[in-house]
Amino acid sequence: MNLFDAQQRMQELSQVLTDHNYRYYVLDEPSISDREFDQLLAELQALERLYPQWVSPDSPTQKVGGQAIEGFQTVPHKRRMLSLGNTYTLEEVAEFDQRIRKATGIEHIEYSCELKIDGLAIALHYQNGHLKQALTRGDGTQGDDVTANVRTLKSLATQLKGDFPSEFEIRGEIFMHRKGFERLNQQRAEQGEALYANPRNVASGSLKLKDSQEVAKRPLDIVLYHVLEDQNRFEKHSDSLQAAASWGLKTASESRVCHGLKEVEAYLAHWDKARKQLGYDTDGVVIKVNSKSLQEELGYTAKVPRWAIAYKFETEAAHTQLLGITYQVGRTGAITPVAELQPVSLLGTTVKRASLHNANEIERLDVRIGDWVYVEKGGEIIPKIVGVDLALRPVHSSPNPYITRCPECQTPLIRAEGEAQHYCPNAKGCPPQIAGRIEHFVGRKAMDIQSIGAEMAEALVQTGWVKEPVDLYDLRFEQLMQMDRMGEKSARNILSGIEASKSQPMERLLFGWGIRYVGETVAKKLTQAFGSLERLMDATMDELTAVDEIGERIAEAVLQHFQQEHNRQTVRRFAELGLQVFAQQTEQTSERLSGKTFVISGVFSRYSREEIKSLIESHGGKIASGVSAKTTYLVAGDGMGPSKLEKAEKLGVTLLSEEELLSLIDA
Ligand code: IVH
Repeated sequence: MNLFDAQQRMQELSQVLTDHNYRYYVLDEPSISDREFDQLLAELQALERLYPQWVSPDSPTQKVGGQAIEGFQTVPHKRRMLSLGNTYTLEEVAEFDQRIRKATGIEHIEYSCELKIDGLAIALHYQNGHLKQALTRGDGTQGDDVTANVRTLKSLATQLKGDFPSEFEIRGEIFMHRKGFERLNQQRAEQGEALYANPRNVASGSLKLKDSQEVAKRPLDIVLYHVLEDQNRFEKHSDSLQAAASWGLKTASESRVCHGLKEVEAYLAHWDKARKQLGYDTDGVVIKVNSKSLQEELGYTAKVPRWAIAYKFETEAAHTQLLGITYQVGRTGAITPVAELQPVSLLGTTVKRASLHNANEIERLDVRIGDWVYVEKGGEIIPKIVGVDLALRPVHSSPNPYITRCPECQTPLIRAEGEAQHYCPNAKGCPPQIAGRIEHFVGRKAMDIQSIGAEMAEALVQTGWVKEPVDLYDLRFEQLMQMDRMGEKSARNILSGIEASKSQPMERLLFGWGIRYVGETVAKKLTQAFGSLERLMDATMDELTAVDEIGERIAEAVLQHFQQEHNRQTVRRFAELGLQVFAQQTEQTSERLSGKTFVISGVFSRYSREEIKSLIESHGGKIASGVSAKTTYLVAGDGMGPSKLEKAEKLGVTLLSEEELLSLIDA
């Protein structure tokens, strides 16, 4: 390929990939498979490595993050970023409408109603269709330049299409879907790390990460709601949103134009209920006068626009007393303070405890034992304390000093610089940490030893026989029978469960071992890349970071783990005991499905989706994410997406059940 061709190919790939990103993340209508996408992306990445001088800042490769930065520059906003006046009742909304009608002399005002997403505000500057700068709100007059991080958002176009103004600003909200939040927290739980408080906190924390590669891994989303441009292109606010959508930007699909107060009220009533079905948190509705010229006429107060207002949904909060604070010690030694509450009923359940997350959170709330507090259920399952009722604070109250020693083993706690969480460093001797590691090891996603639950793990640790997972394999029947309330049958059950776990594949063993940052996916990647624990144990930093998705932080943790002679010996013990210390061979088993493209939808009874995918691939079939003319079969499980079905029918694609797929392979 000559230089000119290379440059042209890079531009072409950039365009094609941008378009696929848009179809996937904005329209939710992918037209190629993930694998095909990855191939194109890899081609572009390879060219960019050869010709770094031609890497565009808008390149889709930047969505995986670029260079880490030192700090964020503070930049003044071209136009101030204001907040909104709040209303809490329909009467207040009616008063707002009345004020507008009076000021303008118009009887029926047209409004644009939009959901108010609970995230953080962002101002984007585009020039000639390219994203130039992204600023946080900051204090409203100046914000932080977080452009590098914002570029990684998959649903944000950094290169626009269509008839956009050569220069404009657009504002919106960056947020995280509850699913993504839960997944993130689940990963953290697997890695034994403290959990995040709520999606909003993670979203704002993510944007302030110094390493955009880390940001790229966070499932952040964006919705844009305010176009600011100098040419007065738009008569109506709703037109500007529609135009922005046509430039490839993601605007709120739930927004509606409402004619007069009655329609606004209907919108509020609808979303007050329907919001619970949304995949993300909204705390209200923003009601905006739709006409741009009326907006101008109405103007601003010192702090807020007169032409818009926020209506806050009622949140159900309970009022109760904080009886005490207890502290939990996790598998990695992370300490989590827990509020012990006077039991109170909240949305149908009795709430007795709430997480306080860490020392900073206690300080931020300035919550003290004996205080009356407000408890809410947010997007999370664990209720949270949202505030303190200072009017009822006992006169002689004082802040509670945070504990300095581990509540379980009395070891002095440590807190690494810049970290919110306190840790008990006594990993080897602190009973709940040991029990936590055993519990993790026997867990469903690790070695899946169902005959050992949390209580049994704890009891085994208490006997002193089990200090680490590998010790389980040395347990003998006579020992178990010495334990309290142990019957012969349970003892045999436990032993046979332990024995059976020896055939679990290496990735589960590795995951179960509980090396910091080595969650399920990382364990899989490492297993695939190194093939055996022996090889993994001698891997170098370079070899580790060469593996897809393994960064320095993970590599460092793995290196540290295997630097300890004790852990190296454990690898040998695992091998001697007959555990799977080698990766299973997932070689191509047949070519039976070669040349066929499959789309998988819904859930299945015998296999997981992942298993179905690898089954098809191991027989030479291809997997695509969306139904197209190239699809040979649509493998249909329960709850399949109706749009996929419709498309398949239209294109005459053959439907397969799980059983039919299996017999196709067996044939
Ligand atoms: S309009 C001058 N529209 O709410 C116009 N704001 O309390 C001001 N927000 O800082 C903003 N969804 O972070 C607007 N559809 C929406 C919004 C929205 C969420 C946030 C935004 C703003 C805050 C104001």
